[in-house]
Amino acid sequence: MNNIRIIILFASILVIATIGTVSAKEYVIGDQKTPVVMPDPTAVYMGAEKCKTCHKEKYDDWKTSGHPYKLMTPDEAKTIRSDLPLPEGYTWNDILYVLGGWGWKARFIDKNGFIITKTGPNRDKNGSNQYNLETKKWSNYEPGAVKKYDCTKCHNTGSSYDSNHMGLLGIVGDWEFRGVQCEACHGPGSEHIAKGGGKGVAIVINKSSAFCGLCHVRGDPSKIPAKDGFIDHHEQYPELLAGPHKVLQCISCHNPHKGTHKGATNPTGAANGIKQECETCHSAQKAKFNGSTMQKAGVKCTDCHMPEATKSAVGDLKKFDGDVKTHIFRINTDVNVNLTYKTADGKEYATGYITVDFACLTCHPEKNKEWASKYAKGVHSFVKVAPTPPPAPKKGICGPTAMPLIAIIPVIIYAILRRKLK
Ligand code: HEC
Ligand code: HEC
Ligand code: HEC
Ligand code: HEC
Ligand code: HEC
Ligand code: HEC
Ligand code: HEC
Ligand code: HEC
Repeated sequence: MNNIRIIILFASILVIATIGTVSAKEYVIGDQKTPVVMPDPTAVYMGAEKCKTCHKEKYDDWKTSGHPYKLMTPDEAKTIRSDLPLPEGYTWNDILYVLGGWGWKARFIDKNGFIITKTGPNRDKNGSNQYNLETKKWSNYEPGAVKKYDCTKCHNTGSSYDSNHMGLLGIVGDWEFRGVQCEACHGPGSEHIAKGGGKGVAIVINKSSAFCGLCHVRGDPSKIPAKDGFIDHHEQYPELLAGPHKVLQCISCHNPHKGTHKGATNPTGAANGIKQECETCHSAQKAKFNGSTMQKAGVKCTDCHMPEATKSAVGDLKKFDGDVKTHIFRINTDVNVNLTYKTADGKEYATGYITVDFACLTCHPEKNKEWASKYAKGVHSFVKVAPTPPPAPKKGICGPTAMPLIAIIPVIIYAILRRKLK
């Protein structure tokens, strides 16, 4: 009897000790530092290359998206973007990682883990440290600041904050694999693989917008932070919640394994992961829009309903033209409303609807908001009516050349009458 008790006691100590060691590392994901849901308490991260052996199609799709390329070694960066320049004063030997560089912009991390903010021949000039892919120009990101890489929770797979990467002073936290890999969304997969894979076998699937929203957010998801009249980037989740599609999930429209943006591994945008177009669910608007002037000119639903009202990189962009498509969708045609507003404490937020300057004026730059507002209502079925041609000019005394003469007649009569009256 006593022996059994002792065995149970030892066994429980052993179990607690084992759980203790495995859970020593607390994995988190997203801005809210949410703990990762573990498919199995003993599971560890394996990396996307391991998943590829059985899920090649998913792997190939994923490789065309931006998710894998968030944080790259110099060699990886040069493989996907051979023309990527370096900030002035640096060679590739000074670079530990390239930060971004897939779709919008690139920043650079030095060998101590800090984000480079000083450039120039002597590395003493502040700024010119962010390379913008669309404009091919440098701009200033936190110029001159001592800037740690504290971004792993949204950029990498298996992020944790128990230690810092390679013991580097400039890096906050650590990760198991770089980029948003399979296991960032599906949880660590060692047990799934050990059991030969299979549906429901030690793997996580989360289909909610809130899950994608752990990373596609900027703090409190009930607010849409903005800057200089534009929506700030990585806010697709709060945008979705503010608009009419809060009832949908991201994956109602998106294939989670494919991207949509034009990027280094999707240069023409051909690998488009949109699995349900607007027209699928909005057949009434599709029918109205069909045959309209703009439909015939090649304008698409997304051109007006998902304008680039959001800004990621900066550069010499046009007015009302950022570089990330907004997910607010609803257009307010009122001429007196603005996309963003400021609170008493000077903070700027987006209102939750698209205004007609953003929806219309990037294609109609010579027009103004009043014009856009006037035509916006009923714009789906708008057909431009050709103006009625003016009547053909008549010849002779009534023709256009005779008009000034005819106009003079009353003046002459008046002059004669005035003389007579005097
Ligand atoms: C950004 C998050 C995300 C990433 C990264 C991701 N997945 Fe998925 N995956 C999902 C979601 C969400 C679903 C459910 C899709 C659905 O039901 O429409 C899913 C479904 C699946 C399925 C089963 C259902 C199906 O569509 O056949 C497999 C298998 C799968 N993923 C494998 C992978 C592999 C392998 C990788 C890496 C190469 C990967 N996933 C990367 C989010 C992700
Ligand atoms: C030894 C082969 C094998 C490997 C390696 C493997 N899987 Fe699977 N996995 C399968 C099989 C078989 C299925 C069931 C059929 C299917 O859904 O494709 C499956 C299903 C899945 C599903 C869907 C689960 C569900 O409940 O519907 C996901 C998600 C998934 N795998 C993710 C991964 C990830 C992530 C990795 C890498 C860490 C991985 N798999 C590695 C064989 C494998
Ligand atoms: C809450 C999650 C989150 C945090 C924290 C975060 N990011 Fe991001 N970042 C994203 C998402 C999502 C995107 C892509 C979507 C978008 O920009 O709208 C992105 C895009 C980027 C890009 C552009 C990538 C490309 O291919 O062009 C860069 C560069 C970047 N982030 C740098 C940073 C830096 C530096 C930090 C830390 C100081 C940081 N991010 C913190 C989620 C995050
Ligand atoms: C762990 C954080 C994280 C999660 C979870 C996440 N994303 Fe992302 N997502 C990012 C980052 C970071 C980028 C920027 C990648 C880059 O530019 O290199 C990004 C970029 C994207 C892009 C634009 C790039 C492209 O390939 O077109 C789309 C679309 C996207 N994510 C959709 C989703 C969807 C849908 C989900 C949920 C199924 C999701 N993401 C979940 C972090 C995340
Ligand atoms: C999966 C189906 C689905 C897809 C795809 C879809 N929508 Fe919707 N849409 C909805 C639903 C559901 C609502 C909410 C209707 C409601 O609130 O009654 C909605 C509402 C809207 C509204 C607001 C309607 C109103 O009365 O104010 C707009 C605008 C809109 N969608 C535009 C779009 C555009 C543009 C696209 C393509 C980028 C699109 N939708 C794609 C299902 C969809
Ligand atoms: C030229 C710009 C433009 C294009 C292209 C466009 N829309 Fe709209 N859409 C608008 C405007 C502006 C409104 C708001 C009208 C109002 O408030 O009276 C609107 C309203 C809507 C609504 C809300 C309900 C309604 O009918 O007013 C839906 C849903 C919608 N659009 C879907 C679509 C779909 C689907 C397509 C593509 C087939 C599309 N739109 C193409 C500008 C556009
Ligand atoms: C109603 C459909 C719909 C829903 C819901 C939706 N998206 Fe999108 N998303 C789109 C479309 C359409 C595009 C543009 C595709 C293109 O460029 O042709 C897009 C583009 C994107 C982009 C790239 C933006 C750019 O400028 O290229 C990101 C990132 C993204 N979506 C993330 C998300 C996330 C995260 C969610 C959920 C919080 C989500 N989306 C929900 C339809 C949707
Ligand atoms: C993607 C670009 C694009 C967007 C966005 C766009 N338009 Fe247009 N629009 C066009 C093109 C191209 C034509 C010329 C069609 C033709 O004349 O053959 C046009 C023609 C017009 C015309 C008739 C020509 C004129 O000058 O009188 C009106 C009115 C109009 N658009 C209103 C709008 C309104 C209102 C919006 C926003 C709700 C809008 N457009 C958004 C591209 C766009």
